[in-house]
Amino acid sequence: MTPQSILIKGPRIIDASQGLDVVGDLLVKDGKILSVGNLIAPADIPENCRVISGDGLVACAGFIDLHCHLREPGFEYKETIATGTQAAARGGFTSLCCMPNTDPAIDNAAVVEFIKRRAADQGVVRVFPIGCVTKERKGKTLAEMEELASAGVVAFSDDGDPVYDDNLMRLALAYSQDLGLPIINHCQEHSLSRGGVMAEGWVATLLGLPGIPAAAEEAMIARDIALAELTGGRLHVAHLSTSGSVALVRQAKERGIPVTAEVCPHHLTITDQWALGGKDSKNDVAGPLSFDTSTKVYPPLRSQHDVEALVDALAEGVIDCVATDHAPHDLASKQVTYQDASFGISVLETALGSLMQLVHQDRISLSTLIERLTVGPARILGPNFAELPTLKEGTPADVVLFDPNREWRVDPREFASKGKNTPLEGTTLKGRVVATMVAGEIVFQESALTEQVS
Ligand code: DOR
Repeated sequence: MTPQSILIKGPRIIDASQGLDVVGDLLVKDGKILSVGNLIAPADIPENCRVISGDGLVACAGFIDLHCHLREPGFEYKETIATGTQAAARGGFTSLCCMPNTDPAIDNAAVVEFIKRRAADQGVVRVFPIGCVTKERKGKTLAEMEELASAGVVAFSDDGDPVYDDNLMRLALAYSQDLGLPIINHCQEHSLSRGGVMAEGWVATLLGLPGIPAAAEEAMIARDIALAELTGGRLHVAHLSTSGSVALVRQAKERGIPVTAEVCPHHLTITDQWALGGKDSKNDVAGPLSFDTSTKVYPPLRSQHDVEALVDALAEGVIDCVATDHAPHDLASKQVTYQDASFGISVLETALGSLMQLVHQDRISLSTLIERLTVGPARILGPNFAELPTLKEGTPADVVLFDPNREWRVDPREFASKGKNTPLEGTTLKGRVVATMVAGEIVFQESALTEQVS
């Protein structure tokens, strides 16, 4: 008989939604949280209950990713909803918002329906589609935003590309206010970034590669903040990568403009120097390992100065959440010259291990990091999502259990994702997901999980 209940004995339970940080037991029954933090005596363990040892582990609400690419429909050779959601489960993510740069793009209700059906049939975590801002993501005319909202999209974006046209962005923000859904803009001023393949700076100069200046991102963020102020619409800035962008978001928030922002694990932990090879920020000469295309991502990896500013802003709350921008690619898209390679990093399975570096280095507290992976993104999605990032009794049991101190070597061949494109290949991370639960069902568990059935 399948156990109806799961008891996790004695993990450190961190629930950012209620400021809870205790060592105790977590009991799940019929898909919901039944008890959190209370010690469950042996006599009180329900019959037919799976008991999992939480010794030395952290239990928290499942992570919510506002920004990933599942590639289906259209690019199933890079990822599918099945493989992408399995990767999510391995990374501790129980909810994914997927970007609309699919083929066809998510610009009508039929594609939204297709994704929802596929996710229900083949997905192992929750999937929430993001609709296009413009038809076919072409930037010429607005998509049928109302139709998309009725079909169930959770936000709008032309991600991969910005909404270039100022007036379309103005209209989209105005509609976003009526529809109560955010506009997520990938901010890059094309006339500045066109042709660039990495951050403008001394590394790009050394490698002879065309650079993308920080101003390309900052100029469009400044425009969007002005338009958010004009319309009152809900602006969410995707993947911040520069210290100047942090300053703009900080100032806009101080002025009460409705803007939120996200940052990716790679922009918080690695720099453009990784394009020189050697996998660290100390290498300052070009060599045989240079031009590693797994470091090519949009927006690009930037300087240590930018990394520091982004980490501080995340810790402070100027940046509201972490989002992965999981961008899986096939080998052929990356095994080419740096200029020709596709932009993107496969992130879902390394996100926690990367981010835990910041905790181990005392740059951010564990409870704040968990807040930015759970409550932070859910708040941007709105009140309908309030039950997902919490362990409150009676709410759906979306839970991740992880070992904060487990060291492991990144081997992309072990990824569930089809995207093996990570600059972290061969590096050691400290912090690993042990089990992930969606609505009380274990969707990923390590073979090492210690358990018994009562
Ligand atoms: O690096 C990126 N890859 N940035 C984007 O904005 C798009 C993404 C993709 O779809 O591959």
